[in-house]
Amino acid sequence: MQDKASTLKYQLRSLEKIPVKVWHDPREGSVHLARSIALAIRQKQQDGEKIVLGLATGSSPIQVYAELVRLHREEGLSFKNVVSFNLDEYYPMQPEAQQSYVRFMREYLFDHVDIDPKNIHIPDGAVPMEEVETWCERYEKLIDQHGGIDIQLLGIGRTGHIGFNEPGSWEDSKTRLVRLDGLTRRDAVKDFNSEEEVPYRAITMGIGSIMKAHSIYLMAWGSHKALILREAVEGPVTPSVPATFLQRHSNVKVYADVAACEELTRIKTPWLVGMCNWDEDLVCKAVVWLSLKTGKPILKLTEEDYSENNLSDLTIEYDDAYNINIRIFNRLQHTITGWPGGKPNADDSNRPERAKPAKKRVIIFSPHPDDDVISMGGTFLRLVEQGHEVHVAYQTSGNIAVHDYDARRFMEFVQEFTQATGAGSEHIQTLYQTVMQSLDNKRAQETDIEEVRKIKGYIRRGEARAGARFCGLSDDRIHFLDMPFYETGRTRKKPIGEEDVRIIADLMEKVKPHQVYAAGDLADPHGTHRVCLDAIFEAFRQLADRPWMTDCWLWLYRGAWHEWSIDEIEMAVPISPKQLERKRRAIFMHQSQKDQPPFPGSDDREFWQRAEQRNRDTARIYRTLGLAEYEAMEAFRRWKF
Ligand code: F6R
Repeated sequence: MQDKASTLKYQLRSLEKIPVKVWHDPREGSVHLARSIALAIRQKQQDGEKIVLGLATGSSPIQVYAELVRLHREEGLSFKNVVSFNLDEYYPMQPEAQQSYVRFMREYLFDHVDIDPKNIHIPDGAVPMEEVETWCERYEKLIDQHGGIDIQLLGIGRTGHIGFNEPGSWEDSKTRLVRLDGLTRRDAVKDFNSEEEVPYRAITMGIGSIMKAHSIYLMAWGSHKALILREAVEGPVTPSVPATFLQRHSNVKVYADVAACEELTRIKTPWLVGMCNWDEDLVCKAVVWLSLKTGKPILKLTEEDYSENNLSDLTIEYDDAYNINIRIFNRLQHTITGWPGGKPNADDSNRPERAKPAKKRVIIFSPHPDDDVISMGGTFLRLVEQGHEVHVAYQTSGNIAVHDYDARRFMEFVQEFTQATGAGSEHIQTLYQTVMQSLDNKRAQETDIEEVRKIKGYIRRGEARAGARFCGLSDDRIHFLDMPFYETGRTRKKPIGEEDVRIIADLMEKVKPHQVYAAGDLADPHGTHRVCLDAIFEAFRQLADRPWMTDCWLWLYRGAWHEWSIDEIEMAVPISPKQLERKRRAIFMHQSQKDQPPFPGSDDREFWQRAEQRNRDTARIYRTLGLAEYEAMEAFRRWKF
């Protein structure tokens, strides 16, 4: 046993060139990291010394900062001996601008702890261009004068950047002005109004500056980091992935959640690393992998295929290849159903859903007003057609994702209509002027006034109503929850609060659903989808003792960017060509999100195109595995508490 464990460790070390600590979720890892930092701060305090922290911004460290603030408030952690150096800042950027890292650090950390403002250092995005070089040299020297950085926090960009050291950065680079990669700028759109407003440049500490830190923690949370994390940890050291330089640091650790680790060999294909504890899920994962790798349908896999691909363990355990093949084939076959609400009067022992009750009460939670039709439009249509009592609940208003010109167009319509009919025209006239003036004078990156936000929210409501009605719902089953965490008028949201959870729990209490559908996105832990999911999880916990809850199943669909892997799918709902066309029409009802929505993410395709591609891909993979051939498929995973 001892030997096996040490062989595994050895194999892992030769594969993962940076030690990775995998956490169940971002919160757990962040809390642990914050406590390690707190311990180091206290130790230095005891010795009467200062501690130098290298700090990052972006979504990765937010929960670490939240825990540090809590430790300060509730457990007396003082920051009096802390000196901080931030990694980077956009250039140009005024410190008081909403997107500045100065503001970020104040909002998430500095304003809530007792750090001496003199000890805070953040690259200055407002220095005149001709002074930038000297400024950067001074920053670098200042870090050295403080004895270097004790603990450096890092996030990782999808380009593999650390700080803003984009691909092509040299290992000994110092603090300097850099150009941002196109992908980094697109990822930053979520903090700006549009891509045009994202600065092209930034001032960043160099790789060399980072590598001088005594200890380094690289955080990666969410499945959108999975591919780049694998490159950083397992790939060769190369300037094309700057984070790989960390492999040469002697005291660096990766803190990542399961979702960010899903591409690491030890999780994706553990049989390539060493012995596995085979359970049914892992066998399924291995067989799907083997079938796709060899290009053979599952039922045609042979003993040789298994043994040539490190899977002979499996054939030994199950006697022969055919036994495993048939078992996994059946398992996948049983995920397919055209009856997402359960097939009435059918034997349901091998079906994803219960036959009874034949007519179910269903709530589809949609984080934004269009995720319902984008991610599960085909299933939505089927549930209604099959006679279930379907409710749809739009969790947030989605108001920041509407272009100004659409708000203007709708306001003009109201004003002209009121003028023509004469009803209540005075009030409308004032509103019209307020709105138009605010849009005329709106500066780049400025938050909309409340009236404009309302109009934008109503635009999305109208579209959502049209989409849900198209799917066959009556108005009393369409719910707008307007969860308060979202209502900042900015991309940066408030933390989830009691009210957010209460709103979800109230609706569930009212409907008493047999089925709940929710967006199960594990990408971007601070994104709206994740927060909306956390609120649903919390509502489930709070309602756990209600008798109707024993009959309530939670099905998770994935948002526009990501799909469940085949071995994770527990219900696959086929979509015919005709149904796919209807789904597309339902998505088209969301006109403000068509062509070029304000926050398209890093994908140039429109939402309907992404959805169709994804649903077709799922059907194609099922076919490749040797199962039935459908036009498209929507996929779900059941969440068991
Ligand atoms: C931020 C920084 C960047 C981010 C990286 C990941 O100060 O230097 O390297 O850490 O872009 O961003 P998030 O954490 O938002 O995914």
